[in-house]
Amino acid sequence: MENNMNDLIEIVEGKTRALVPNLEKYRIGRKIEPAHAPVFYNPAMELNRSLSVLAVEAYARLFNYKDLTVCEPLSGTGIRGLRYLNETSCVSRVIMNDIDEEAYKLIMLNVERSKAEDRVEIYNMDASQLLLNLRGRIIDVVDIDPFGSPIEFIYPAIRALRHRGLLAITATDVGVLMGRYPQKCVRRYGARPIYSIDYSREIGLRILVGAVAKMALQLDYGVKPLLCYYEGHYYRCFLMLLKDRSDAVSTVKNLGYLIHVRSTSEVKFLRKYPICKIARRDVDVGGPLWTGSIIDLDFVKEIYDVLNEREYIRSNGKLMKMVEDFIDEAPLSDIPYYTTSTICRGLGTEISSKKLIEELRKAGIDASRTHMDSRGVRAGVEDVEVLREVALSVLERE
Ligand SMILES: C[S@@+](CC[C@H](N)C(=O)[O-])C[C@H]1O[C@@H](n2cnc3c(N)ncnc32)[C@H](O)[C@@H]1O
Repeated sequence: MENNMNDLIEIVEGKTRALVPNLEKYRIGRKIEPAHAPVFYNPAMELNRSLSVLAVEAYARLFNYKDLTVCEPLSGTGIRGLRYLNETSCVSRVIMNDIDEEAYKLIMLNVERSKAEDRVEIYNMDASQLLLNLRGRIIDVVDIDPFGSPIEFIYPAIRALRHRGLLAITATDVGVLMGRYPQKCVRRYGARPIYSIDYSREIGLRILVGAVAKMALQLDYGVKPLLCYYEGHYYRCFLMLLKDRSDAVSTVKNLGYLIHVRSTSEVKFLRKYPICKIARRDVDVGGPLWTGSIIDLDFVKEIYDVLNEREYIRSNGKLMKMVEDFIDEAPLSDIPYYTTSTICRGLGTEISSKKLIEELRKAGIDASRTHMDSRGVRAGVEDVEVLREVALSVLERE
């Protein structure tokens, strides 16, 4: 690190200061390329880290936990782990680690500058190895934040976590999960995506949650999604791990498939492998994937309360809007959404999701927007034709 010391600058995220590589030196044209720096730091992930701080605090409050031990086995500069320590009232110990020696040295430096040495353990090894070494200790939260896919770290993370522990996962291989490389998705996640339909983005997220659930099930454990979302270029999931056989039984019930009918654009979850009544050439089948709820209302309401108490991040409009959207869509988050372009296909023009939601609610149908797509509408009806009729009636009136 000494050689690169001059390249470091101090940044402040939330209430936390840390030294990170000066990314101006790794600019290509107008684009900053964090992966080219000697230690990885991506300023664009600040929102991810801020929301993670809120989520861990909300988790502790909701389930009445304190003195949490968080393991972040892919730490980079250590900024995420330090934020958990500095900005929550519930985290008392953080285990940080990075396989890269430069990163390891920078984590040590940042921990020292934060005077947090007595509350942090720092390792320089493979993340899976570290997680497996933690067996026998009580680990409350594991935060997996890798380059690309998190899949190789899920099994050791499940092994390390305690019953009712919190598993946080980032996946930046959104293209794979959304189906741009379907064979890769089948190999990596054991599930078939559906590419290039309006619902592809959420299918990818549900494949990821389903893959984690399947791994937990192999050990007779279950999972409960608390918040699974998409932002910019990544998926992020907060799942409670349930190390109880009865929870494994209920988890299985949330795994299934999704069919997409090309002629009508209808999407529908199915619990069993679809033996098609519809002509095969008209149907795409995705999955296996998670078919249950992906946002827990109590959890996101707690996040909202924590956010409102924190003056220093409350002003982040994007974060606030996301959390408000999560609250809005949580009760309907086990139902696929349709975009207004799908709903209005063939009607000659498109109405706004806001207007459509208003009309659906007036007609006594539960409906919400979704953070997944600004044109997306979740509604308490399965048949896209019903939504189309409501949209048509609005268009005829206007
Ligand atoms: C996306 S970065 C982590 C960013 C960090 N969590 C943050 O919020 O700023 C991924 C990090 O994982 C490290 N890494 C990659 N493979 C690893 C492995 N098998 N074990 C441990 N660390 C690894 C890389 O060196 C890199 O620093």
